[in-house]
Amino acid sequence: MTHTRLEHVAIAVEDLDAAVSVYSAILGQPDSGREFVEPEQVRIAFFDLGDSRLELLEPTAEDSPVGRFLRRRGPGLHHIALEVPDIESALERLRGAGLETVGEAPRRGASGRRVAFLHPRSSGGVLLELSEPAR
Ligand code: CO
Repeated sequence: MTHTRLEHVAIAVEDLDAAVSVYSAILGQPDSGREFVEPEQVRIAFFDLGDSRLELLEPTAEDSPVGRFLRRRGPGLHHIALEVPDIESALERLRGAGLETVGEAPRRGASGRRVAFLHPRSSGGVLLELSEPAR
């Protein structure tokens, strides 16, 4: 039986450079790369953590999903991402189970992956990302 891989844990931050310094010190390693995800208006820094990653998210616009989250809740855990082999079939299965997704279609995430989100109402108060590997 295969298990579901934890792809990443994402933390919303106000200042990416400052947060990278803090997490480099915590982890004892430099960040593994940066990316700008234009559709989400977010700058990301990654830390490789063996089989999964830590992502730091800094919004580039106040009126963006992460910008609104920061204004409402302040910095902190933003979402957890689980890897799925096929995002369409995962969405179909979850909607079939009566769970609420954020938006209809998958969208482009970091690293060329396709992503979709389960609403926190449907997943124990945590925003849950489904993440399909780039192929
Ligand atoms: Co993510």
